[in-house]
Amino acid sequence: MAIREIIILPDKQLRLVSKPIEKITPEIRKLADDMFETMYDAPGIGLAAIQVAQPLRLITMDLAKKTEDGENNPQPRVFINPQILSSSEETSVYEEGCLSIPEYYEEVERPARVRVRFTDLDGKVHEEDAEGLFATCIQHEIDHLNGILFVDYLSKLKRDRVLKKFAKAAKRAAE
Ligand code: NI
Repeated sequence: MAIREIIILPDKQLRLVSKPIEKITPEIRKLADDMFETMYDAPGIGLAAIQVAQPLRLITMDLAKKTEDGENNPQPRVFINPQILSSSEETSVYEEGCLSIPEYYEEVERPARVRVRFTDLDGKVHEEDAEGLFATCIQHEIDHLNGILFVDYLSKLKRDRVLKKFAKAAKRAAE
């Protein structure tokens, strides 16, 4: 396994629409392994392949870190070609962050529950109902596969402010 570099705003690759995975090859398994290592190292609870510059519809997630004894009971999950089948009308608000927008957190309102279809690393298709943090996280990560970032849901004022801040930081780093 290897830690890969996480791309950050304003990297244009974050706006790419990722491609479906047709076959679970050894390269895909290696990518998933590397994404877990990268995600745990960051540390974060979810990562989309595009965040390590691979435009493929693959997500890694582990929400256990957010629970009391999660450190000792990791629950790594892989979602390949995930699709939201339905969303609740009821919404909930969570403070979100993103490894590609480091140290920036804002509240985002999303459907409180979603039904998701996805494939696992063995090629098996699953359907699951997500709620709570799981619902928020899977929606956030699926957005990444479509080139959407959580800051896109903020007011124009807040969004422009954060985009400008990261553009400036990138410019400074390049000098
Ligand atoms: Ni993110």
